[in-house]
Amino acid sequence: MPRTVFLGTGFDVPERVVTNEELTRRMDTSDEWIRERTGIRERRWVEEGETSAAMAARASRRALEAAGLEPSDVDAIVLATLSPDHFFPGTGVFLQRELGLSGTGIPALDVRAQCSGFLYGLSVADAWIRSGRYATILLVGVEIQSTGIDVSTRGRDMAVLFGDGAGAAVLGASDDPDRGVLSTHIHAEGEHAELLWCDAAASYRHPRISAEDLEQGRHYPSMVGREVFKHAVQRMPEAVHEALEENGLAVEDIDLLIPHQANARISEMVRRRLGLDETRVYNNIDRYGNTTAATIPIALAEAVQQGLLSQGDLLCLTAFGSGFTWGSALVRW
Ligand code: ACO
Repeated sequence: MPRTVFLGTGFDVPERVVTNEELTRRMDTSDEWIRERTGIRERRWVEEGETSAAMAARASRRALEAAGLEPSDVDAIVLATLSPDHFFPGTGVFLQRELGLSGTGIPALDVRAQCSGFLYGLSVADAWIRSGRYATILLVGVEIQSTGIDVSTRGRDMAVLFGDGAGAAVLGASDDPDRGVLSTHIHAEGEHAELLWCDAAASYRHPRISAEDLEQGRHYPSMVGREVFKHAVQRMPEAVHEALEENGLAVEDIDLLIPHQANARISEMVRRRLGLDETRVYNNIDRYGNTTAATIPIALAEAVQQGLLSQGDLLCLTAFGSGFTWGSALVRW
């Protein structure tokens, strides 16, 4: 059975840098509060009119270039996002079109697993590759969060956290038994769906969004931050141990851990609970904030660019987010 390998990675973030200081002009907050509670110094927000499909296409082209491939080499697209350009169709088909692949008929699957979307997508893509269904898959995580948050004091607990961006990976098949995706583990617990969610627009209501919804801010995401924190620092280490156990490996074997960039304090607690050295955990939340489905592929592309991964290294990915959903993946680079 072939193994899934990462052939190339790439990312794209908007040019516009939004500093904590800029946010202090729009809401009652401070650079100190944001840095202490979240580790974020700045994030990127799109200019009006920018689409996630366009950002995803730029990230994808970079990943394809790194892999030495053309868009026409892609057999399937898997795209994870919680902020699609439209309710339907999914952003995957717009990405397919942006890449000039409309005429090929290749499938484009949108994954809706929020912060865990990239890992859910990897799990699907890995199964397709191992089964021989598709040989080359473009896996993308992309978000435009900035247009969906309440940038006023009312929404300050969420508004300071989120950023926009896209990350992509080109996945291929290899017969080398010593390389590739060793395992993926994905989980969900719907019990906590409303602890981190966006209430409106909602298809069980007619109309799906009302003037009252807008007035009450139900179209903005909301979260019970402390509960999210508590579950995140439990579930991510748990998922990492699950992956290690399945592969007969130990924490000491991990060369690089890329946790979902939700909050620097969450990542720090995950690192401590696992007993990993600081040098083995990748963090970039200070520069991009939480880009949700895009945090892992952006961080991975940066880590590759910085030469942090050598062939044979053990890479561990883990995520936790809205749903709740969470998971892990182990990759022999
Ligand atoms: N600036 C200034 N003050 C703020 C801000 C802000 N941006 N946001 C909230 N506050 C205030 C609150 O109103 C509250 O004021 P009060 O005491 O007068 O009521 C005070 O700060 C403390 O609020 P808490 O919510 O208790 O602050 P806490 O220390 O719990 O930190 C935080 C909040 C950072 C959100 C924390 O709960 C957390 O880290 N949660 C994890 C969730 C998370 O990071 N999610 C990311 C998205 S989800 C994901 O990707 C998994």
